[in-house]
Amino acid sequence: MFSGVNLRTNQIIKKFVDELRFSRAWFQNPLKTGAVTPSGPDLAHKIASYIPICPQTKMQTRVLELGPGTGPVTEALIERGIEQQNLTLLEYSPTFLKNLRKRYPDADVVHGDAFHLKTSLPAIKQGSLDAVVSCLPLLSQPTERRLSCLFQAFELLKPGAPFIQFSYSLSSPIARNSKAFTTKHSSWIMRNFPPARVWIYTKTENT
Ligand SMILES: C[S@@+](CC[C@H](N)C(=O)[O-])C[C@H]1O[C@@H](n2cnc3c(N)ncnc32)[C@H](O)[C@@H]1O
Repeated sequence: MFSGVNLRTNQIIKKFVDELRFSRAWFQNPLKTGAVTPSGPDLAHKIASYIPICPQTKMQTRVLELGPGTGPVTEALIERGIEQQNLTLLEYSPTFLKNLRKRYPDADVVHGDAFHLKTSLPAIKQGSLDAVVSCLPLLSQPTERRLSCLFQAFELLKPGAPFIQFSYSLSSPIARNSKAFTTKHSSWIMRNFPPARVWIYTKTENT
C-alpha cells in the first residue's frame, strides 16, 4: 500500500515540476513555447493513437517528435509501443533538453530547429520515418514556414506516413488548399486545457 502511495506522490511531484518548467519556458519565450501548460494525457494518447503500427515490425517503428517540451507526448508514444531507441526528440529550448535526456536516456535527444530539419537532423535518412509528431506552436509562424516544415518532414517520412500535429485552433494549422497532401482531424479533446484537436497530414502520391 505504501509503495502505491509513494508512486502517486512521485507522479504529483513530477507533474508539478513539469508545470513549473513549462511556465519558466513560457515566460522566457511565449511564442516559441506556444501553450501555457503541458499537453494533458488524453491529448497525448490521442496523438499517439495515430502512429501506424504494424504488429510484425512494431519494434522498428521510427518516430520523430518536434518540440517534445516536458515530454507528455513522448510518454504516450512509448506507452503505444515505440522503442526509445527508435525515437528522435528535436527540441529548441535548453530548458527542456536536460530533463528529456535524463528521462529518455535511450532516445536520440537533439538540440535544434524544427524549421531546418536537414541541418538539425543530418543522420535521419530520407523516407525512413513511420511518423512525425509535432507539438510545435505552428500558429505563431507565417503560413509559408508552416508549409515548409510539413514538406521537410514529408521528405523524411516513408510514403503515406503521417505528420501529426495538435492544435487549439478552429481551423487547420496548415492551410488545407493544397493538392499535395490530404488533411484529416480528430474530434475535440475536451479533457485537455485548452481543448484541442489532432490534425493528420499525409502526402498525396505522385506529388
Ligand atoms: C506547445 S509546447 C508543447 C510541448 C509538449 N507537448 C509539452 O506539453 O510539454 C511547444 C514546444 O515546441 C518547442 N519548439 C518551439 N519552436 C521550436 C523549434 N523551432 N524547433 C524545435 N522545438 C521548438 C518549444 O520549446 C516547446 O517545447
